[in-house]
Amino acid sequence: MAATDIVIGGDNGQAVVQLGAMSNRHGLVAGATGTGKTVTLQVLAEGFSRIGVPVFAADVKGDLSGIAAPGKPNAETERRLKLIPRDGYQQRGSPVAFWDVYGTNGHPIRTTISDVGPLLLANLLELNDTQSGVLYAAFRIADEQGLLLLDLKDLKALLAWMVDQGANLRTTYGNITAASVGAIQRGLMVLEEQGAEKFFGEPALSLDDLMQVDFSGNGVVSILDATQLVQKAPRVYAALLLWMLSELFEHLPEAGDLDRPKLVLFFDEAHLLFDGAPKPLLDKIEQVVRLIRSKGVGVYFVTQSPLDVPESVLGQLGLKVQHALRAFTPKDRTVIKSVAQGFRAKPGLDVESTVTELGIGEALVSTLDAKGAPQPVARTLIAPPEGRIGPIDANERAERIARSPLRGKYDTPVDRESAYEMLKARADQAQAAAQAPAAATRGSADAAPPRPAAASRQRQTATEAFMTSAARAIGSSLGRQIIRGVLGSLLKK
Ligand SMILES: Nc1ncnc2c1ncn2[C@@H]1O[C@H](COP(=O)(O)OP(=O)(O)OP(=O)(O)O)[C@@H](O)[C@H]1O
Ligand SMILES: [Mg+2]
Repeated sequence: MAATDIVIGGDNGQAVVQLGAMSNRHGLVAGATGTGKTVTLQVLAEGFSRIGVPVFAADVKGDLSGIAAPGKPNAETERRLKLIPRDGYQQRGSPVAFWDVYGTNGHPIRTTISDVGPLLLANLLELNDTQSGVLYAAFRIADEQGLLLLDLKDLKALLAWMVDQGANLRTTYGNITAASVGAIQRGLMVLEEQGAEKFFGEPALSLDDLMQVDFSGNGVVSILDATQLVQKAPRVYAALLLWMLSELFEHLPEAGDLDRPKLVLFFDEAHLLFDGAPKPLLDKIEQVVRLIRSKGVGVYFVTQSPLDVPESVLGQLGLKVQHALRAFTPKDRTVIKSVAQGFRAKPGLDVESTVTELGIGEALVSTLDAKGAPQPVARTLIAPPEGRIGPIDANERAERIARSPLRGKYDTPVDRESAYEMLKARADQAQAAAQAPAAATRGSADAAPPRPAAASRQRQTATEAFMTSAARAIGSSLGRQIIRGVLGSLLKK
């Protein structure tokens, strides 16, 4: 076995192995509730960490956090270790960085409105085509007017200004109706009620912080506590993961063939990424998932039914770990049939009946060999994790967050001058100008010309905004072009 191989489990005394070199070919962990998906995710994530691959994982139930602490000796672990050939098993924790959009169970994770872009934002706000068109116009106007869009406040100020300027903007940007702007504003209010305004602003997450290796060469496991987020704001959860995917895609260089990925992402409750997404967005997700492979990023979806993931994405997945499925309804049986079709058959193994009989922590597993060909499906007893099964407690978590090297970097939001401040300054100036003649007739010297300090600061920010848009355009940011391009085609429809 190569140093970059990960033992997933055992099949009749044979190790079932995920090859590091095939780990950018993506994967799926599926199965009914309580069948062992999260523990499988943990085993894979620990394996990646051990071979030096940083991991990002969304933790939807909070029970993945145990990966940060050593497991405790127990009979079940012993039983599994006897059946699974696996060298060097040790009960130990992995290096973990905790993240949380709300900032309570980890470092805050943020990005800017401008980085999320209109396509994802339109999906997040559940806008129709006309409303999306207006949002797209808002991004163009912001670019052209040198207005930075960082947080919700900026976007709200811009929208209000657009309504004000309606007639002036119409010739260049088309009809910006109060109804469409109103729909966007209502969507933003809903986000605020969900506390999701915390997701937008600065300091924005630097992707480098997700790609760390500790001093022993273990990949750092970044755990996003998504317990609150998935409940309160499932669309923000989806937007966050998709934004991350497109950012990585845009910024990472082509990597060629590697012996292990540069980063692996685990997306739990994967159906949330696809539910309600319009066709153009689905197409782009499929495209980004396909292309991000060559940048050395592996994406692993975790979900109850494999049919939660669109077929175009399913067809690209190299690793399939199928835990037990129920066979109660006709729909269940359809799922089981399609699961069976997705595996390379193994003589003597009837997938359709086996998949309903699997025990907890047992799965049908299909891996790729060194040439990238699917291996016959293996009935696999999943290895026990080295870390603890289940959550760490609040004290253990607080302690780890307190001594994290990232402490302080993201904890305090920074509100620098952006669209909101700039539009406010413009409005103040306009008001001052309107009052100026009256002041002049009074012979007052206070009706001063525009304050030069403020003006130059504004110019600077405008230049900065221009540079960001120029950098975006020049940086051949395919991802963004895709994202904006899609909206372009939406608009033409
Ligand atoms: N590989 C394993 N080794 C040891 N125990 C396991 C293993 N897999 C599962 N178990 C046991 O089964 C329990 C349930 O597993 P797990 O939480 O992974 O299920 P799940 O499919 O993620 O459930 P849910 O759908 O509710 O999230 C674990 O708490 C653990 O006790
Ligand atoms: Mg689970």
